[in-house]
Amino acid sequence: MISTYEPASKKIRHYSANACLLPICSLYGAAVTTVEGVGSTKTRIHPVQERLAKCHGSQCGFCTPGMVMSIYTLLRNHPEPTAEQMIAALAGNLCRCTGYRPILDACKTFCKVSSDDRSAGLCPLVENSWPLLVFFPLKVSTRLFSTDEFQPLDPTQELIFPPELMRMAESQQKRALFFHGEQMTWISPVNLDELLDLKAAYPKAPLVVGNTSVGPEMKFRGVVHPIVIAPARILDLNVVKFTDDGLTLGAVCSLSLVTDVLTNAISELPEEKTKVFCAVLKQLRTLGSEQIRNVASLGGNIISRKSTSDLNPILAASGCMLNLASRVLLPDTFMSALLSDFAQGEYVSAFRQAPRRENALPITNAGMRVLFEEGTDIIKDLSIFYGGAVSTTVCAKQTCWTLIGRHWNEQMLDEACRLLLGEIALPGSDSGEKVDYKKTLMVSFFYRFFLEVLQSLKTTDPCCYHGIPMEYRSGLQDFKTKMPQSIQLYQDIEPSQSPQDPVGRPIMHQSGIKHATGEAVYIDDLPSVDGELSLAVVTSSRAHAKIVSIDTSEALNRPGVFDIITAHDVPATNEFYYSDDPEIIFARNKVICVGQIVCAVVADSDVHAKQAAAKVKIEYEVLEPVILTIEEAIKHNSFFEPKRKLEQGNVDQAFETVDSIIEGELCIGGQEHFYMETQSVLAVPKGEDKEMDLYVSTQHPAIIQEMVAASLGVPANRIMCHVKRVGGAFGGKLLKAGLLASVAAVAANKTGRAVRLILSRGDDMLITGGRHPFIGKYKVGFMNDGRIRAVDAKYYINGGCTPDESVLVAEVSLLKMDNAYKIPNLRCCAYACKTNLPSNTAFRGFGFPQSALVTETWITGVADKTGLSPEKIREINMYKEIEQTHFKQKLDPQNLIRCWNECMEKSAYYSRKTTIEEFNKQNYWKKKGIAVVPMKYPFGLGTRYLTQAAALVHIYTDGSVLLTHGGIEMGQGIHTKMIQVASRELNIPMSYIHFCETSTTTIPNACASAGSAGTDVNGMAVKDACQTLLKRLQPIISKNPKGTWNDWIKEAFEQSVSLSATGYFRGYNEKMDWEKGEGQPFTYFLYGAACSEVEINCLTGDHKNLRTDIVMDIGCSINPAVDIGQIEGAFVQGIGLYTMEELKYSPEGVLYTKGPDQYKIPAVCDIPEQFNVSLLSSSPNPYAIYASKGLGEAGFFLGCSVFFALRDAVTSVRSERGLTKTFVLNSPLTAEQLRASCADAFTEMVIGRWGKGQSISG
Ligand SMILES: Cc1cc2nc3c(=O)[nH]c(=O)nc-3n(C[C@H](O)[C@H](O)[C@H](O)COP(=O)(O)OP(=O)(O)OC[C@H]3O[C@@H](n4cnc5c(N)ncnc54)[C@H](O)[C@@H]3O)c2cc1C
Ligand code: FES
Repeated sequence: MISTYEPASKKIRHYSANACLLPICSLYGAAVTTVEGVGSTKTRIHPVQERLAKCHGSQCGFCTPGMVMSIYTLLRNHPEPTAEQMIAALAGNLCRCTGYRPILDACKTFCKVSSDDRSAGLCPLVENSWPLLVFFPLKVSTRLFSTDEFQPLDPTQELIFPPELMRMAESQQKRALFFHGEQMTWISPVNLDELLDLKAAYPKAPLVVGNTSVGPEMKFRGVVHPIVIAPARILDLNVVKFTDDGLTLGAVCSLSLVTDVLTNAISELPEEKTKVFCAVLKQLRTLGSEQIRNVASLGGNIISRKSTSDLNPILAASGCMLNLASRVLLPDTFMSALLSDFAQGEYVSAFRQAPRRENALPITNAGMRVLFEEGTDIIKDLSIFYGGAVSTTVCAKQTCWTLIGRHWNEQMLDEACRLLLGEIALPGSDSGEKVDYKKTLMVSFFYRFFLEVLQSLKTTDPCCYHGIPMEYRSGLQDFKTKMPQSIQLYQDIEPSQSPQDPVGRPIMHQSGIKHATGEAVYIDDLPSVDGELSLAVVTSSRAHAKIVSIDTSEALNRPGVFDIITAHDVPATNEFYYSDDPEIIFARNKVICVGQIVCAVVADSDVHAKQAAAKVKIEYEVLEPVILTIEEAIKHNSFFEPKRKLEQGNVDQAFETVDSIIEGELCIGGQEHFYMETQSVLAVPKGEDKEMDLYVSTQHPAIIQEMVAASLGVPANRIMCHVKRVGGAFGGKLLKAGLLASVAAVAANKTGRAVRLILSRGDDMLITGGRHPFIGKYKVGFMNDGRIRAVDAKYYINGGCTPDESVLVAEVSLLKMDNAYKIPNLRCCAYACKTNLPSNTAFRGFGFPQSALVTETWITGVADKTGLSPEKIREINMYKEIEQTHFKQKLDPQNLIRCWNECMEKSAYYSRKTTIEEFNKQNYWKKKGIAVVPMKYPFGLGTRYLTQAAALVHIYTDGSVLLTHGGIEMGQGIHTKMIQVASRELNIPMSYIHFCETSTTTIPNACASAGSAGTDVNGMAVKDACQTLLKRLQPIISKNPKGTWNDWIKEAFEQSVSLSATGYFRGYNEKMDWEKGEGQPFTYFLYGAACSEVEINCLTGDHKNLRTDIVMDIGCSINPAVDIGQIEGAFVQGIGLYTMEELKYSPEGVLYTKGPDQYKIPAVCDIPEQFNVSLLSSSPNPYAIYASKGLGEAGFFLGCSVFFALRDAVTSVRSERGLTKTFVLNSPLTAEQLRASCADAFTEMVIGRWGKGQSISG
């Protein structure tokens, strides 16, 4: 939070900002408050920190300080904010773990109860209230936290603005400031003359205000500006003035200030005077995030965002005047903008569509204005401007000019659309640009403007103008983000359970408070080691090429550079053969993907290392073939072996007897893990016996130890890997972390210095791969009554350039392909394609989210063909009694059916379906959709040794307990659960037990924390160790039953009883015989069902998630807060995969989507407005610790209920428009695909998919 003091008004302004973009020189005279300043465990925890932690708003904790700062800043300005203000404050904060619901729960405790909430019976202050609650039996609980524990928020206790800064602001004469850095000089003039002089002297120097445009260029594109001019302190440029001509806004006014000024003006001025203000304000509300708007300037947006400015089209259309100045011929300094009033008969509007509703640059936007001849609908003047279309804001001049004199009617609309498409030429682009979508948006926006104006004309003269039909009106409204409501339901503990026993209770994450205070330590927070070096990687820019030469001379001469590390510096293993093809640390003679690590620079700072890395020159000779896609891999027969196949029944014969057959193909895009903490390593050579400590953000310390030892050629006992916590992993920090740790270790070994490697977001996205892109081809035979008799499928996954775990992922996709259905005759083959993309790897769900989406797609295909509803087809084919899977493993689907039935009931599926049908009949441009999807999620890793686990428990003589085990804390709350287990077993309070770190020194050979198995297997090991200790203590306890824990421990020590024990779990007896196609690869099954409802805007493809109800069978929950958090977090990540996250590559295999700017993960605006999760009660699991089930992954797939709800909405659109042909929707089902599928006259104009010959206004 930045706080500034303005002496003239004596006002203090607090605002949030993105630290990574904020120039330190701009902070002269400002106070900065970070999360550490808000509160700490050493002094006092702030209510924001306390509530976020206690409401379970942190999982991995990496995003938590950012959340704290956004909420804290809002509360400094509005101690009792509205829900809308709270939602807006969080729009710029991303969390990859929680799914936001628990964060918002914490936020609600600070909010004013709105009248809307009251009338809906939803009171955010009474946590989790829900009107339907009365229907649930008493033993069910909805309380995940208790507000009674919360400290009140007391604004008088906040830090004051430093008086010395206030004095300084008041007393100091304003003078130009100069700051000189290594590469640049920052000059901050105080008046216009100084500014114009400076601009004349340094014409190339940019004017920097918010730095949100210049900053990313310097940071990510290596642009260097030796001189920067900061005009923020010049009064003339800060002006806000209302005159008879309109409103004048200074160029350095922040967009937040502009928002406030316009909002106030709209509330105070007559409506006809504020048409332009309303249109500009509409764009400002979704422009960037609050952190961006707080610093970004009006001038910066107008000048720098050539094509993506949300303001330029509307400012241009509304005739905004810019006031420019210069000492030279061409004006180079923008001083202010004048927004004028509108005349009678003048209308203006603004539109935008972005990949995500909030905090995303627009795909296309528009500003439009029309002026009619007095008292008529004859166009006197028309302005249409588009942004996002070409490299700058464009004006459809010719179109506007041609339409002057025309009536505002359908003929005009028809002609306008054709003229617009002819005039605004969009260049075909190979950078993944959505040309057809943009064109469709251009005409759709104009159509919306047409409707809006028609409707407004009616209000001016209802006799002459009839407005638009009722069913078109909802099309005029954009979706808004509302504060979601939710309920979480779980089975309460038995009343007989000891109050001290924490199992089954919603215990806060063990690190929750540390996450919220910023005290939780991640790799980059570790203090630097004496002589430490930073490492930056140099990666291949070719997908398949021979390395002809590497020229490091220029890089070596850069300041601070210590050395350059290549494959030649690896003392032993550079290529790891876990299968036929190797995993590679440094490319040796050739590169096999863009982003492969070729060499690395070590330097005295991260900045120096990165600067030098950019100077390494690599010459390549391109090799053929370059295989990027699954189709190309099939063509070149390029696969990782073995290919897998499963078959049951007689598929060919079954196809002969079925009533109908459908065939199809589904493409599912890949997914970036986007863990908040990027891959990070600190390698510290210890100076003797070749020992090395490695601090790594990994899910698998043992593989780090194994790979580093092998690469250095030392025994594993010299390599100690330590993991305190991981800022999110989701499968992405297994083998890839091992390769990166080896890079750092080789550098540390060569230089004898500690080496730290923290991948930038861009490098992480480029190098480390993600979820496998997937193609599923299917042929399905079924009877007219909906029974599916035969399925023949082929699955292809894009493994990328090295095997990693691709074959395993392909296997799992086969084993789990049946999802919840009994298919008597089934054949499926899976192929892991070898391509020249970065190697893909494990990701939550491991092949299941893709293969089961294919299954659910052919289920809906059968529904389409038979005319039955998808839920009927699901019910007809669902497992119903104890049966065998397609690999002959027995399963009892009782809980599957319970979840399904409960979900149908709790979601009131049928009545809502009827309501939706009614809504759809009454709304032409908005449609709703609903879908319910069942899930069977098999738990297991297929082999016994992969589920073995160990624990080590020490009791110290003061009674405190140090617990460790092989599991990694990456947000899933494993340490919290393990402490709960130890607390129950030893019968002591959780506060006696501490967990320090996971390390290869305490637990050797630990299996990866993966496959949802962490709590299951480590829980067993912890229980075993605790039981061993308790057995040893038993004679002492029996002798002194009234004694305390400390008495017994003291006595045990004096009797020389060992107070340290290991615990061990051999693993589950899982096996699979791929030759025979049968086995017991899983230990048990989780079940679930989700029902989702959505609403789509047919004109833009935008959608809103209205409601989701999830019912999950997770056995007996050890910690309902943690478990529900896992379900919700996974579900929202699933929404990301299925509806929005899109990876894009160039035809040469270069990843375009290398950061949050281009790759959109779900934000607060994407979660369902009503988000309910209930855990199936009375469903103990006999196979796992305390009858629980491992559930980290299962909830992910349920995100596809949103995909199918969207499909349902599209079906409704298409059937209304007489489009009966089956249609294909691939994943992710983005706004672009939705728009194209809602075929109408506008899409026909662009892509010719309509063919109904209807008039475009219906
Ligand atoms: C995460 C993120 C999300 C964003 N989302 C959106 C969005 O949804 N919609 C949208 O429209 N924009 C968006 N933006 C862009 C943002 O609005 C602009 O970057 C911002 O308005 C630029 O203002 P600034 O003060 O930060 O510019 P700076 O970075 O400080 O300067 C930008 C450029 O403008 C020039 N300049 C600035 N002031 C003047 C002046 N007075 N006279 C002459 N030249 C001047 C400078 O010389 C410089 O070249 C986003 C940016 C980020 C980082
Ligand atoms: S808790 Fe938000 S990113 Fe992990």
